[in-house]
Amino acid sequence: MRVIDMALSKNIVAALTKQINAEFFSSYLYLSMASQFDVMNLKGFSNWMKVQAQEEITHAMKFFGYLSDRGSKVELLSIDRPKTRWKDPLEVFKGAYDHEVKVTDMINKIVTLALKEGDHTTNTFLQWFVNEQIEEEASTDGVVQKLKLIKSDSSGLFMIDQELAQRVFVPATANQK
Ligand code: FEO
Repeated sequence: MRVIDMALSKNIVAALTKQINAEFFSSYLYLSMASQFDVMNLKGFSNWMKVQAQEEITHAMKFFGYLSDRGSKVELLSIDRPKTRWKDPLEVFKGAYDHEVKVTDMINKIVTLALKEGDHTTNTFLQWFVNEQIEEEASTDGVVQKLKLIKSDSSGLFMIDQELAQRVFVPATANQK
């Protein structure tokens, strides 16, 4: 058992628990998108989504590690079923971008809560995610913009597919438990 004065407030624990769930849901959603790209025979797009799905698990584990470090038992919630069908690559990536905007909003709300409660440790912990969300929105929007540019040009789509095939999973090093 951890010492009691390390304990987080009930509200913060609830918010971080919900965020663990949101990060695992993100992983599910991106895996579902990867499968959509597999059936479209866009293996580079699929690779990008599979790497993204792995990255989301590392996000979930950062929250898990933080709750654990602060002496909280981690109560895992049920993960919702993600959407399973999209009509074209643009619709998929628009969905990914919209999802990241939602995640940013969730993170910002936890920051607001932490500041309201004077929980500076949690606020500091969350700053990694505040910065990460800039990258998460930019990378998904970047693909949306490219897809808009090429419209339905198949050679353009092939080139983007080649580019997205290059992405590799790089595990984050900080604070993973
Ligand atoms: Fe974990 Fe894509 O935000």
